[in-house]
Amino acid sequence: MSAVQIKTEGAFEQWTLAREPMRNSLSRDLVEGLQQHVARVSKAENGVRCVVLTGAGDKAFCAGADLKERQEMSLTEVREFLQNLRTLFLSMERSRCVFIAYLNGIALGGGTELALACDIRIACEHAQMGLTEVRLGIIPGGGGTQRLPRLVGAGKAKELIFCGQRVNAEEALRIGLIERIGILADARAMALRISENAPLAVALAKQAIARGMELPLEEALSLELKMYEQTLTTEDRLEGLKAFSEKRPPRFVGR
Ligand code: COA
Repeated sequence: MSAVQIKTEGAFEQWTLAREPMRNSLSRDLVEGLQQHVARVSKAENGVRCVVLTGAGDKAFCAGADLKERQEMSLTEVREFLQNLRTLFLSMERSRCVFIAYLNGIALGGGTELALACDIRIACEHAQMGLTEVRLGIIPGGGGTQRLPRLVGAGKAKELIFCGQRVNAEEALRIGLIERIGILADARAMALRISENAPLAVALAKQAIARGMELPLEEALSLELKMYEQTLTTEDRLEGLKAFSEKRPPRFVGR
């Protein structure tokens, strides 16, 4: 059985990390599987517009790197694994597809980093998150030291990372580490809503936010204008206006 289970729901997909007995920890196979699926849904001709990423069972979203596999790895293999993980997370951020993490349970280390690489995070009431690497003598290596402060601020990120502290769903919501507490159906409903909107517009908005956050304001505003320009000549913009005047839902084609 593949380490990632895929369920297609029209224009969105649900991906389940399917290693429940190992608390959905990130093995080499799982990372490779995710890489392949991210590449597939990131192709322009692919019709998938949104992905809900969750874990099998109700205990864990993802318990971080597979520590048993790690024990058998040489230093070179550890470095190679980390590079693949970092490439995976970047490719999710750069993808035209929107990723929603549904945290069905605990997310530690790489599990929290995987959620951080998603665009939106929704967690169940009993979810817990944490970058607990310093407890193992390492630091977050999948982008955690960079993405966490961007989301919750440097002070809170330092507190959480230095203490190797876990936060529950309520605290995660309070500090802005997740966007909502809810059930899987809430994540799926959001994915449906996103996939009903103009695909190119959503993809360009994602790019404008992600790239703009790294730029000084004036440059970021120019970037937004550039992205807006790209929507002006699309069939979907005309369809949006036409549907409004005809009082019907739009039928977007992604061009
Ligand atoms: N890598 C490999 N196997 C893991 C794992 C990981 N990161 N996390 C859990 N497992 C395995 C356990 O070894 C155990 O296997 P076993 O049945 O062969 O003994 C199985 O998953 C269940 O784990 P268990 O601890 O009994 O489940 P739990 O639901 O009580 O607790 C966790 C779940 C995730 C809180 C706990 O397993 C844990 O703390 N794991 C380590 C997380 C971690 O430190 N990750 C790295 C961060 S840098």
